[in-house]
Amino acid sequence: MYVAPSILSADFGNLDAEIKAICEAGCDLIHVDVMDGHFVPNLTIGPLVVKAVAKAATKPLDIHLMVQNNTFFVDLFLPLKPKFITFHIEEEKHPLRLIDHIRQNGVSPGIVLNPHTPISSLEYIIKEVDMVLLMSVNPGFGGQKFIPDVVEKIKLLRELIDKKNAKCLIEVDGGVNGLNAPDLEEAGADVLVAGNYIFSSNSYAEAIRAIKLEF
Ligand code: DX5
Ligand code: ZN
Repeated sequence: MYVAPSILSADFGNLDAEIKAICEAGCDLIHVDVMDGHFVPNLTIGPLVVKAVAKAATKPLDIHLMVQNNTFFVDLFLPLKPKFITFHIEEEKHPLRLIDHIRQNGVSPGIVLNPHTPISSLEYIIKEVDMVLLMSVNPGFGGQKFIPDVVEKIKLLRELIDKKNAKCLIEVDGGVNGLNAPDLEEAGADVLVAGNYIFSSNSYAEAIRAIKLEF
């Protein structure tokens, strides 16, 4: 199980130290939530701040775009050489073209599904992506309540991956904590994003270990 702390819940006045601390605490990826105030009712950070995050980080970046005009934002973040760039299927007319564009630039492409978007929408995309991110909250804010229906969706996605003989990771994002992590892992999740749970804990390392089910 890989853990990707969402820096949305980090102390932005102390970002450099927060990134270093989370890397030392044993995370696998740094999850960066980019919101544009249009696709979601919140506005976060752009490439200037993410560049500083990349500089402080000793772990690869996982950039989650929650934006309109995906191509514009993808091109802003490609030069920072993240491991993953994921974008929402609900907001893209030509997902296969954008997936190809991201891969051609040496970054692993991923696709994101909102809680209401069915797994069947991935039928002709699944073989082309390196990761599918299932939202377990409505995107826009950290610290929201986990939507349990995602457990069933993980199982359906695992079936589709097997049926198509695809090779992509399953990531889950929103309301993840040490209590629901075992169910998510059992259902077939590979990467768990957690913001509030990790950054509000007394020990980042212990919170990460709890999600990884290492006691
Ligand atoms: C929500 C973001 C999530 C969020 C996760 O729109 O995509 O990454 O920050 O935070 P928690 O774990 O607090 O729900
Ligand atoms: Zn996210």
